[in-house]
Amino acid sequence: MCGIVAYLGRKAAQPILIEGLKRLEYRGYDSAGIALLKNGGICVQKTSGRISALEQILNVPTSGDVLGIGHTRWATHGEPNTVNAHPHTDYTGKIAVVHNGIIENYSTLKTWLKSEGVAFASQTDTEVLSNLIGYLYDHIEASGGCGNQNPFEWAVQQALQKVHGTFGVAIVCSDYPDLLIGAKRGSPLILGVGDGEYVLASDAAAIVEHTTRAIYLADNEMVTVNSDGFYTKTVNNVVIAKDLKEIEFSLEQIELGGYPHHMLKEIFEQPDSLSTCMGGRLDRQWGKIKLGGIADSLRELTQAKHVIFTACGTAFHAGLVGEFLLEHLARIPAETEYASEFRYRNPIIGDGTIVVAISQSGETADTLAAVEQAKERGAKVLGIVNVVGSTIARSTDAGIYLHVGPEIGVASTKAFTAQVAVLSMLAIELGRRRHLSSDDAARYIDELAQIPEKIGAILQQSDHIREIAAANIDKENWLFLGRGFNYPVALEGALKLKEISYIHAEGLPAAEMKHGPIALIADGMPAVFLATTGPQYDKIIGNIEEVRARGGRIIVVATEGNAEIEERADHLITIPEAPELFQPMLSVIPLQLLAYHAAVLRGHDVDKPRNLAKSVTVE
Ligand code: G6P
Repeated sequence: MCGIVAYLGRKAAQPILIEGLKRLEYRGYDSAGIALLKNGGICVQKTSGRISALEQILNVPTSGDVLGIGHTRWATHGEPNTVNAHPHTDYTGKIAVVHNGIIENYSTLKTWLKSEGVAFASQTDTEVLSNLIGYLYDHIEASGGCGNQNPFEWAVQQALQKVHGTFGVAIVCSDYPDLLIGAKRGSPLILGVGDGEYVLASDAAAIVEHTTRAIYLADNEMVTVNSDGFYTKTVNNVVIAKDLKEIEFSLEQIELGGYPHHMLKEIFEQPDSLSTCMGGRLDRQWGKIKLGGIADSLRELTQAKHVIFTACGTAFHAGLVGEFLLEHLARIPAETEYASEFRYRNPIIGDGTIVVAISQSGETADTLAAVEQAKERGAKVLGIVNVVGSTIARSTDAGIYLHVGPEIGVASTKAFTAQVAVLSMLAIELGRRRHLSSDDAARYIDELAQIPEKIGAILQQSDHIREIAAANIDKENWLFLGRGFNYPVALEGALKLKEISYIHAEGLPAAEMKHGPIALIADGMPAVFLATTGPQYDKIIGNIEEVRARGGRIIVVATEGNAEIEERADHLITIPEAPELFQPMLSVIPLQLLAYHAAVLRGHDVDKPRNLAKSVTVE
C-alpha cells in the first residue's frame, strides 16, 4: 500500500527512482511522483495514474542529481489526482516528503498550522507532515535551537514525535543536498546499503537490483544517510546499532520470466514453490515434521486448548482450511477470525489460547493490529508469514515462513497454497504429538509430498479452463459452492474472480445455497461446484441437481476418473485424487486459472486490479 523509494549515491537518481517505483507499483498505482535535489532547490514531478504516466511527463534533465525520493500511491486521504500525489513539499519549498501510512491526528495538526499562517495545497495527511517539519525547521531558533544536532534531522524528529498513526517516510531538504532521512512506524522501510550508494524503500523489490545488503528499520526508528555513510537512531534521538542483513531473494524472482503477468507466473510456480515450502520439513521415515521456527513453542501448542487463526483476504481463507485441518488431525478446537473483527470484539483469550496470524506480506495493518491485541491480552502469538523480516514476522513470538519467494501479483495465489501446506504440516505435527500414530502421520506426509506434482498436472488444463472462462465471459454473476474442506476454496474462488475480473461472485458452503442464494439462479448463471471425492460428495451432487433444475450453468471441479459427473456438468475440470483434507491445495488451482483467464478476456490489468493493493497497511 503505497511504495516509497529514495536514492542517494553517485548515479543519476531519476532513472533509479523510476525503475524502483515500477518494482513497487503493485503496492499502489493511482498516482506517482518523484522529487530531485536540483540546483539548490527541490524539483517535484508528479501526476495521477501509473508510473508509465509519470514517465511521460518527466521533462527535467537528470544529470548530476544524485539524491531523490519517489512514491507510487494508493489513495487514503484525498482523491488520486496530481495535487494529492506525493512527494509533498512544505510551504517554504525546502522540505519534500513521501509517505506510506496514515497520520491520524492530521486534522488537529492542520488546524494548528493554518492558525500559524501555513497554507495547504492538497487534501492529504502527508502534506500536514511536510508542513509540520517545515514549520519546525523554520522556527528552530524560536524553540530554543537544536544544539549540535543537524537542524533538518532535529525538525524531522520533533515532527514525528507529534504525529499519531503510521508512517514509512523518506524526506529531503534543499539546504542539505547530501542528506536523506527515512523513518518508520507501522509501515515497512528498508535501507539497501550498496557500494557508495543507498536505496531506501518500502520493499526489498526496489533494492535488490542495486545491493542485497540491507538494514530493516523497526518502529520508531530512523536512518540518516549521506554520501559518507549512515547512522540509525530512534525518533527520540537515541543512537542505535542495526545489523546489516542479506536480502533473501533475487532479481530473477521478481521479473516476469517470459510470462505475460506475475499472477500467471505465480500460479505456474506453485509446484516449485510448494516443494520449497515443504522442502526439508517432511520426515517421511519417522512420520515427523520439522518446523524450526516454532520448535520452542511446540510443547505449548500441543497442549493448546484453543487456537485462533486471524488474517485478511486470501490468508483468511487459508485460515479457514487450517481450522478444519487442526480439528481433524490434531483435535484442537480452532476458529478463524477476520483480523479486522478480532481486534474490536473483546476476544476471550484464556490460558491455553494460541493466536496464529497468517499474512503473505507480514504488513497488513488489520492483521498486525490483531497481533498486538492478542499480545496485550497475554496470548502466545505465532505467525505464518511469507516476507522474511516483515513486521508481523518480527512482532510474533515465533513463526513459520512460507519460503515461496516474492509474490507480486495483487491477487494472492502461491501464498495461499503454501499457507495451506504450512497449516497441514502444523496439524500433522501436532496430531502426531497428541494421538496420531507414526504410521498415520507418515501416510499423511506421503500424500502431502505428492501435492506439488499433482498441481503440475492440473496446470496443464490451463487452455481448457480458458475456454470455460470464454464460454461464460458475458455472465455478470457467479456462484462458487463447496462443502467441508472445499468450502473455504469456494470463498477463495469467488474472491479471485471478483478481484481481477470485476465479475460479481459469491462463495458459499453448498448447503447454504437453498437458504437464499438459490433465488438468484436463472438464465445460465454459472455455478462452480467443487465436487471432489469425500464424505459429502453425494450431498454436493444433490446441490448440483438443484441448480441444474433451475437453469444454472454447471461448472464442476471433480476428481479424475469420475465418469458419472460428466453428464451433470456443462463444463468439467478434473484434479488428481488426494485425501479430502489436502484437496484445497488442488481444487483452488482451476479457480485461480479461471479468474486469471476471465480477467484477461475482459481486458483487465491482471497484476494491478482496480482499487486494490497488494499490501494493505491501513486499517
Ligand atoms: C490484500 C490483498 C489480498 C490479500 C490480503 C491480505 O487485500 O489484495 O490478496 O489476501 O491483502 O494480505 P496479507 O499480505 O496479509 O496476506
